[in-house]
Amino acid sequence: MTHPTFIHRYLPGSDAQRHPLVLLHGTGGNEDDLIPVGQMIDPAAALLSPRGKVLEGGMPRFFRRLAEGVFDYPDVIARTHELADFIAEQTVLHGLSKPIAVGFSNGANIAAAMLYLRPEVLAGAVLIRAMLPLPTEPEDALGGLPVMLISGRMDPILPLSNATQLAEALRGHGAVVDHRVLETGHQLTRNDVDLARGFVAGING
Ligand code: MLT
Repeated sequence: MTHPTFIHRYLPGSDAQRHPLVLLHGTGGNEDDLIPVGQMIDPAAALLSPRGKVLEGGMPRFFRRLAEGVFDYPDVIARTHELADFIAEQTVLHGLSKPIAVGFSNGANIAAAMLYLRPEVLAGAVLIRAMLPLPTEPEDALGGLPVMLISGRMDPILPLSNATQLAEALRGHGAVVDHRVLETGHQLTRNDVDLARGFVAGING
């Protein structure tokens, strides 16, 4: 088996009982971007933050797109499996419980693709400004997997109707989806962080 590698940051947590967070940045971001967000969401959790390997005009992403909102689906599939393998290996390496993915924009979309293709690697997901990652349905039953999807009503990039379809697709396969709509655009806001914090606290019990 090959060992998938990503440039990444790993910060150990102070409470091994808590689910680690996998932080997945948006287009043009990197492994540093969401560290402060992860620390606000759960200051005691371990944080694993990979950098997307695809470069679009020098900007890192997690998979290729053909145009804004038009994804290269074979690339989405291959990169989702590679990222899921990396997360599974890192989880074992650091002796962690299953992580919760926290993704923003392109990072939320690859987290959504993991729910479609590799849900077994995650204990839950926070998808901030996500859309349908694939034209297909989720492959496996999602068995009550908790998902928070947070959309911006004025988001010019991700239409709310598309996010609603994603929520329905995940629910249709057994995920427990809490879809929140904020009166905002595409950018990550304090309200997103507050919602994510409450959601992650709920999973950790
Ligand atoms: C982005 O700019 O990252 C898009 O809105 C989402 C994507 O391409 O995955």
